[in-house]
Amino acid sequence: MAPIRSGLMHHLGRNLTALTTWIDARFPMTKLLKEHITEYYAAKNFNFWYGFGVLATVVLAIQIVSGILLTMNYKPSAEDAFASVEYIMRDVNWGWLIRYLHSTGGSALFIVVYLHMFRAMLYGSYKKPRELIWLVGMAIYFCLMAEGFFGYLLPWGNMSYWGAQVIVSLFGAVPVVGEGLAELIRGDFYISDITLNRFFAFHVIAVPLVLLLLVVVHIMALHEVGSNNPDGIEIKEHKDADGKPLDGVAFHPYHTSKDLVIILVFAIAFSAVLFFAPELGGYFLEHANFEPANMLQTPEHIAPLWYFTPFYAILRAVPDKLLGVILMGLAVMLPIFLPWLDRCKVKSIRYRGWVYKLALGIFVTSFLVLGYLGLQPVSDTYTLVARVFTFTYFAFFVLMPFYTSWEKPKPVPERVTN
Ligand code: HEM
Repeated sequence: MAPIRSGLMHHLGRNLTALTTWIDARFPMTKLLKEHITEYYAAKNFNFWYGFGVLATVVLAIQIVSGILLTMNYKPSAEDAFASVEYIMRDVNWGWLIRYLHSTGGSALFIVVYLHMFRAMLYGSYKKPRELIWLVGMAIYFCLMAEGFFGYLLPWGNMSYWGAQVIVSLFGAVPVVGEGLAELIRGDFYISDITLNRFFAFHVIAVPLVLLLLVVVHIMALHEVGSNNPDGIEIKEHKDADGKPLDGVAFHPYHTSKDLVIILVFAIAFSAVLFFAPELGGYFLEHANFEPANMLQTPEHIAPLWYFTPFYAILRAVPDKLLGVILMGLAVMLPIFLPWLDRCKVKSIRYRGWVYKLALGIFVTSFLVLGYLGLQPVSDTYTLVARVFTFTYFAFFVLMPFYTSWEKPKPVPERVTN
């Protein structure tokens, strides 16, 4: 038996080599695989924070596949949308799983992306020469926000309707052109079937196309300069005789094998939520969205999903509508400028002074507290607290050029530490 099998393997192997040679003569397949996978060198000291980029890719894939499957039974019309989602949940084979994969997956993607961004702040990954990776990342983040916003209208629940109503009406606060702008977005004088149709077009095709393109550019920019690492040291500065970084290991198989473990751990945590608490008590799918859109009745209190609430809290903390909109917009945009606001020469938090550590701590606290407040009904005390943390949120960015110039970093080692 054995000689026949090895003969077959030999034959298959020869055919595969012939096929590879044939493709390589027409398309740089082996070259690309080498450049980006088997001969892409990344630091050997990656920790779990370096797993979130891969996880973002995995969850994005989950969103695309489950989204395509949802589209097969979803009906983008004000008349049918809500019922079609109920139909998916009750009658379509595995429809409940497809829908929950997509709704829980949306929240998972934001969790993973927020942690991925925070990693960049821990290790100074936005600094030279990785500014463009960060800028493209911010563009990806804006696309994700647009995806979340457009997608939330699609089930045509009452929170979908009123959430879109609140956000679109914010554009109305812009002087002179505001009302026209809001009408342009809605395609109507109120959120209607026309709005639903265009949001569907943006959610399923326009934004995902841009998003995917940006992810490709993000990885290309990363592979051009090389990954940063928890020590914030440029591994390209110490190479062996063959020109390979001494502190680097090939992405495949060394990082892919670690990434597989990270993906498995994520899959366990994700499944736990997906199968046991897919709505997570109203945080991943809000209770008011289990009632159909009703333009005559607002939900008891309108709040966006958790990943928008830090910014929503800033909007509500400001008494003037226009100023609130401006501050909210600024809060979303400010991270764009991090590569230039941060003046410290040292990248990794491991070797930075206490000032940055304190500032980062204040920033994270502000973001989390604002996120919590944005989910709560308005009260005088909450508004006051939201104002304090809106101030600290902005202070983190605005004062950054000063405190990062003053801070006294520790000496950075020549080579990565572990
Ligand atoms: C769908 C969303 C995203 C995907 C699929 C994605 C994918 C990736 C991957 C695979 C890596 C390399 C692995 C790693 O270092 O973790 C990476 C690195 C990076 N990403 Fe993203 N990313 C996304 C969003 C973002 C966002 C929103 C930002 C920031 C605004 C960002 C900033 C960065 C930076 C600075 C690096 C380099 C990190 C380093 O070398 O230390 N990414 N990204």
